[in-house]
Amino acid sequence: MPLTISVFGTGYLGATHAAGMAELGHRVIGVDVDEAKIARLSRGEVPFYEPGLPELLRKHVESGRLTFTTDATLAAAEADVHFIGVGTPQRKGEYAADMTYVDAVIETLAPLLTRPAVILGKSTVPVGTAARLAQRVRELAPVGDAAELGWNPEFLREGFAVEDTLRPDRLVLGVDKDRPGRIEEVAREVYAEILERDTPFLVTDLATAELVKVSANAFLATKISFINAIAEVCEVTGADVTELADAIGYDDRIGRKFLGAGLGFGGGCLPKDIRAFMARAGELGVDQALTFLREVDAVNLRRRQHVVDLATRLVGGSLDGARVAVLGAAFKPNSDDVRDSPALDVAGALHLRGAKVKVHDPEANANAAAVWPTLEFHDSVAAACADADLVVIGTEWRQFREADPAALAGEVAHARVIDGRNCLPVEDWQAAGWDYHGMGRFA
Ligand code: UDX
Repeated sequence: MPLTISVFGTGYLGATHAAGMAELGHRVIGVDVDEAKIARLSRGEVPFYEPGLPELLRKHVESGRLTFTTDATLAAAEADVHFIGVGTPQRKGEYAADMTYVDAVIETLAPLLTRPAVILGKSTVPVGTAARLAQRVRELAPVGDAAELGWNPEFLREGFAVEDTLRPDRLVLGVDKDRPGRIEEVAREVYAEILERDTPFLVTDLATAELVKVSANAFLATKISFINAIAEVCEVTGADVTELADAIGYDDRIGRKFLGAGLGFGGGCLPKDIRAFMARAGELGVDQALTFLREVDAVNLRRRQHVVDLATRLVGGSLDGARVAVLGAAFKPNSDDVRDSPALDVAGALHLRGAKVKVHDPEANANAAAVWPTLEFHDSVAAACADADLVVIGTEWRQFREADPAALAGEVAHARVIDGRNCLPVEDWQAAGWDYHGMGRFA
């Protein structure tokens, strides 16, 4: 049976979840405090780049199944289930997560709940948050104990957000085992279509569900930093980290995925999640358990410095006045997200050291320019590379992987490339006359 669902927060997570729930057949109300965003979404426009989402959103806005509002009262009056999909960014100057937005949703929504409702948190939160919020909801809601809260972490990847929402590899639901209530039953209704396909559905206590999410991201971050640490060793021994990753990846206990050595991880999740996890462990008195994540973070940030140092060497010892093209500004391809982007960080660092940096990203130029207005942005690979002394690949967009190295060699002043993502066909580039420098290979 279709439900009426509200989704609080209409960023990458919330907007995708809202459209996904409409696709599953439900009536959905997206809620946000940002009026401009709500106006755009109501017109069927997605305010960020996410493949497949504009089509899905438009389809359900047009059918009337998906609406957007800034009015939480409306959502509280009409919806049976309320999802929380607002951000939990890193607090300024601290490792801990900023819970302002999640708390604000609860403080706004709970006092409006005059009929039984289930709230499902999706945001990534410090362990212990859900229990605290469940208690707060019971205190604030006029309907009292009939307002229930569970935690249903989201594992979607940017660039594959629609696919991950409609065909997740598992669903996790945290409930208070002492007050199970209706939460599991309602979640099963929400996800009925997904569960029919035998998608694993794990019902846990609240703390486990919260920890599943941060543990998954900590593991992925660790895997990337592991291979990047090995890349550092490869760089001083002449070994090739990509061949090494292929060879260890055949062991299915290890697996080849997330062993891509390069500029390291960025984005709105992995970096801030491992830091918030360390901060929370410290509060809980088990900081030693996660000190290795400090190393994971440090290895990751060293990759950016490594590229800046390599660039300095390649242009003759000083970046002052060097013309550098940086291809890529998004933290990964198929995204316009520049949060904690390794590519943009490198572009900025080169610029601060005196290089004349020209950046091109197929989707992220505008977002990057908002962070670094003093960098030069170009609409094409050729324009960014014109007269360059050095080209740096910061994001492995298909357009860069498939660029014609011979044609590009004709645009630049010096055919020198740092492949920060080990994504170029090396032999083709070398055959076209390029001096090629990979990450953890061809040292
Ligand atoms: C991540 C998790 O994958 C997702 O499950 C969670 O819900 C949110 O965080 P996302 O941030 O979209 O998703 O990006 P992901 O595809 O995981 O990539 C993260 C970063 O790691 C990117 O900067 C990417 O370039 C980098 N990466 C990934 C590597 O450097 N090497 C790899 O082998 C894989």
